[in-house]
Amino acid sequence: MKIHITENYNSMSEKAASIIIKQIESKPKSVICFATGTTPLETYKLLINAYKNKKVDFSKVVSFNLDEYYPIQKKDKNSYFYYMHKNLFDHINISDENINILNGDCQDPELECLNHAKKIKKHPFDLVILGIGSNGHIGFNEPGSSFEKRIGIVNLTSNTIKDNARFFSSSSQVPKQALSLGIKTIMSGKKILVIASGKKKTNAVKDMVKGKINEKCPASILKKHKNCVLILDKDAASQLT
Ligand code: PGA
Repeated sequence: MKIHITENYNSMSEKAASIIIKQIESKPKSVICFATGTTPLETYKLLINAYKNKKVDFSKVVSFNLDEYYPIQKKDKNSYFYYMHKNLFDHINISDENINILNGDCQDPELECLNHAKKIKKHPFDLVILGIGSNGHIGFNEPGSSFEKRIGIVNLTSNTIKDNARFFSSSSQVPKQALSLGIKTIMSGKKILVIASGKKKTNAVKDMVKGKINEKCPASILKKHKNCVLILDKDAASQLT
């Protein structure tokens, strides 16, 4: 695990964006698995600026996403489908047929996951972008999730529902389940980029970096990955030294 500690959220985002741009430069057909949440928002703004300044071309990039709430409609402002389009895809030249997001509005979630897993098999990930939950989750793989799981429907913990309630009118509105790539699929990425910012992430970052590899902290498995880069701001890294 390579760790970069940056001054603040903006410098963390700049470093993350530059890694993503370099990946696409070196392989225009890169398969990238994107994260949602608050942490990558500035990174995505920087990618949009780079695209507008002709510094990066997404025309051949294939995208996947880590997860999606279940059930949720695509047009729902809290869906990750909506998030990805609003915060990145609508502003760059990625082609629609190259965008793959689990459908939170499907009739049969098991089948949806099965079909998605087949698509991933055909498009191995070159880069996986991850945030980390304050409870150490990656994607929606909550504490206790098996490291062996590839994809599936998951129950969100009350901690995650509380964390994510800020986007909804109340915590009772947060879907109680999600479709998520499992840890085995995340770990299959050739390169993993983890970003974390702020004091709220301090404990999760400490458990990930310093703790034992243990399913209680899903992110701890990333220590086993051969090409994992962690970009932290000072606050998120404050318990590492
Ligand atoms: P956040 O979420 O970026 O909104 O903090 C991270 C996560 O839960 O993975």
